[in-house]
Amino acid sequence: MSAQPCAAAPAYAFVNETQAHAVEIDGLLNRAFGPGRFAKVSERVREFADFAPELSFCALDAGRVVGSVRMWRVSVGGRPIVFLGPLAVEESERKHGLGAQLVDRACAAAKAAGEAAVVLVGDLPFFGRVGFEVVPDVILPGPVDPRRVLARRFEASPLSGAVGPR
Ligand SMILES: CC(C)(COP(=O)(O)OP(=O)(O)OC[C@H]1O[C@@H](n2cnc3c(N)ncnc32)[C@H](O)[C@@H]1OP(=O)(O)O)[C@@H](O)C(=O)NCCC(=O)NCCS
Repeated sequence: MSAQPCAAAPAYAFVNETQAHAVEIDGLLNRAFGPGRFAKVSERVREFADFAPELSFCALDAGRVVGSVRMWRVSVGGRPIVFLGPLAVEESERKHGLGAQLVDRACAAAKAAGEAAVVLVGDLPFFGRVGFEVVPDVILPGPVDPRRVLARRFEASPLSGAVGPR
């Protein structure tokens, strides 16, 4: 039996999000999350959070946005941290590691900016691969499965308290 060549993972360009990407990202998020997109508890956080474009990234394929991760400045128990989301990758580009790369870039930028931690609501089987763990004492502004409240910490001290504005 002859070996089949493996398809190489595509090379993407990563750039910070700007206003010029907004329409394309909106389309990507609508396709990825559907009409329930604005009902999530993470949207309640984003209503009071400060968007951080310098920590948010797009993945471009020949100039087209195929992935996006957004970051927001908030606090947990009064301590400044960053809230990640939404994260989305165009369906045709999934399973090449792009989602993990976007999360890694956003977290690296947050760490370099001196932030203490990145918090999100998501699935541990995916985000556990990129350094996130359950943070049982972090409280979101609405009902959420506590097993989906996750953080990647850059400082040893534990995170606890309500997610609120800075
Ligand atoms: C989640 C998402 C961003 C991953 O993008 P991606 O580029 O495929 O990510 P990666 O290639 O780094 O990782 C893919 C792996 O994660 C797994 N995975 C994806 N979503 C998962 C989830 N919710 N739970 C568990 N595993 C998941 C895939 O099955 C795949 O596993 P494999 O490597 O064993 O085949 C993409 O599937 C997506 O946009 N989904 C819709 C929006 C969404 O759910 N966003 C995350 C919530 S904030």
